[in-house]
Amino acid sequence: DTHRALYGRHIVVSAGPTREPIDPVRYIANRSSGQQGFAIAGALAALGARVTLVAGPVSLETPAGVERIDVETAREMAAAVDDALPADAAVMVAAVADWRAEAAAEHKIKKTGDAPPTLALTENPDILARVSAAGPRRPALVVGFAAETDNVLEHARAKLAKKGCDWIVANDVSGDVMGGTENAVHLVTADGVESWDRMPKGAVATRLAERIATALG
Ligand code: C5P
Repeated sequence: DTHRALYGRHIVVSAGPTREPIDPVRYIANRSSGQQGFAIAGALAALGARVTLVAGPVSLETPAGVERIDVETAREMAAAVDDALPADAAVMVAAVADWRAEAAAEHKIKKTGDAPPTLALTENPDILARVSAAGPRRPALVVGFAAETDNVLEHARAKLAKKGCDWIVANDVSGDVMGGTENAVHLVTADGVESWDRMPKGAVATRLAERIATALG
């Protein structure tokens, strides 16, 4: 029954932005809406998978049949993804902040009239790279996303190698993709590149879920 092609499988999906505190009222974030990741989680569940969706701060309904874990920071997301393993596949769609404030201030930073404060940044954990290198806990299929504004395929191939994942879904975000309802993606694997027509994010999700079902067999 192809409608339940992922029955018995567990898949972890990350989605949305992360939010990195600067002080109690300020944070670093990005424009990710979470739509593509939530659509993927829903499409996988529709094929019968047990889905754990680790979500950054977004205003979206939880897709039917999906177990959702809400987090704010990259470090919380990394811990929640780790806790969700083992899984048959991991699809890391979240737009994780690359950096966080080295030390978030305990109290609101005040304007003093002097020079503006400087913000020291430190690198966040790379969740996709960690899952890809999780040894015996590594999912059989690890899928990453690449949002690029230039040289999309070249960067995607480099990312596949650097992160150690199996597939990269690459998209050009120089236009209105972030926050928009449509997406034009390239599926980059060790075997080559498949470029999909521009289509609604829900259709990208369905097609990717079907590909994942085929890959898991
Ligand atoms: O390195 P870059 O952010 O372009 O890579 C994007 C891919 O890596 C996405 O799949 C994203 O979810 C994942 N990623 C991650 N943890 C990070 C940075 C990116 O899981 N700290």
